[in-house]
Amino acid sequence: MEKESVLFTPGKIGPLTLRNRTIRAAAFESMCPGNAPSDMLYDYHKSVAAGGIGMTTLAYAAVTQSGLSFERQLWMRPDIIPGVKRITDAIHKEGAAASIQLGHCGNMSHKNICGCTPISASSGFNIYSPTLVRGMKPSEIVAMAKAFGQAVHLAREAGMDAVEIHAGHGYLISQFLSPYTNHRKDEYGGSLQNRMRFMKMCMDEVMKAAGQDMAVLVKMNMRDGFKGGMELDETLEVARTLQDECGAQALILSGGFVSRAPMYVMRGSMPIHALTHYMPFGWLPIGVKMAGRFMIPSVPFKEAYFLEDALKFRAALKMPLVYVGGLISREKIDEVLNDGFEFVSMARALLNDPSFVNKMKEDEHARCDCGHSNYCIARMYSIEMACHKHIQNLPKSIVKEIEKLEYK
Ligand SMILES: Cc1cc2nc3c(=O)[nH]c(=O)nc-3n(C[C@H](O)[C@H](O)[C@H](O)COP(=O)(O)O)c2cc1C
Ligand code: SF4
Repeated sequence: MEKESVLFTPGKIGPLTLRNRTIRAAAFESMCPGNAPSDMLYDYHKSVAAGGIGMTTLAYAAVTQSGLSFERQLWMRPDIIPGVKRITDAIHKEGAAASIQLGHCGNMSHKNICGCTPISASSGFNIYSPTLVRGMKPSEIVAMAKAFGQAVHLAREAGMDAVEIHAGHGYLISQFLSPYTNHRKDEYGGSLQNRMRFMKMCMDEVMKAAGQDMAVLVKMNMRDGFKGGMELDETLEVARTLQDECGAQALILSGGFVSRAPMYVMRGSMPIHALTHYMPFGWLPIGVKMAGRFMIPSVPFKEAYFLEDALKFRAALKMPLVYVGGLISREKIDEVLNDGFEFVSMARALLNDPSFVNKMKEDEHARCDCGHSNYCIARMYSIEMACHKHIQNLPKSIVKEIEKLEYK
């Protein structure tokens, strides 16, 4: 007999109950000029909440100025909190819960954005920014962990129900975890226990600040996505540590490394023409046109592309798990939930159609129209994130590129 779908039943993460099992994934909106919330950000999250989501997530808020990789990115500081609160109030009015992803970009920045030489676990050169990188001093590591805690206090003031700590995708916590970016010789480098130390310190501060009333999720990598990065043996240990020692209340299982395997996160190809089209005039678009294909190699897309790895985490862990990656149909979502994942998270399906969740309620065979051309990602690097299906009068050359990449 077919199992009854749990999709539209409530689900719990720590102290928080969501009205259903769907979460809008943290997907950088690029809607925060001056590093502050805007009407655009308000409208987008309100529309996703009105579209039936259980919880929507404001993406990629930096815990310090040094953690900014984009000009149009949220930076958690007291003067933006009333603006963020306006958004959480609107989300709540639509019946959804609100979360915010807190992170630090580490080496994925530039001095003119983050106000200093980008920092990381170790010094070096990041060709993807491109920039020189400075390894953090032990005193800076302690202060950074505290900054994560302070950002959680601000999130509470802004009315957030949950915080999502970004420990994946090759950003700062992930740069400490991965042997690819962590070459330290002190107690923060070497063994996995040492490489996890910074993450554990951040989680200590986060859990203290979250107290009994806020939910804490962590987004982490199952694999970094290239030879020499983290693989399942180590990441399963990271997950167990987050569950047993850190007290995280749910894990979001992802993968990929922005400075080495960027398309492993989202799969498909990067539309290089669209990417360079929106960049300001200068040497960067020329460099990206020349080297983009080589630096951002394609990785084949398939529906629920992380499921095979994620099932290994399901078998090893007791805590609530959130599946993310390539969900575009109600049928696959039901399958993932039947496999034992408590929640499903989507980014592109909800850029494509903010009311996809409500559509799934009406139609058991609902399927969104996202063709994973990744135009939205290319665009987000320079201007506000949007799906090409909602934009009129796109340049013909971009339309041609999208047609070439869609559904491949
Ligand atoms: C436009 C865009 C921006 C993204 N920005 C972030 C981000 O800020 N933080 C993050 O953890 N993941 C980010 N992601 C990755 C998504 O959260 C998600 O893990 C990935 O897209 C796979 O889910 P999907 O197939 O439902 O899109 C982004 C994805 C997209 C499409
Ligand atoms: S731009 Fe393409 S990949 Fe992005 S949401 Fe729209 S259809 Fe999907």
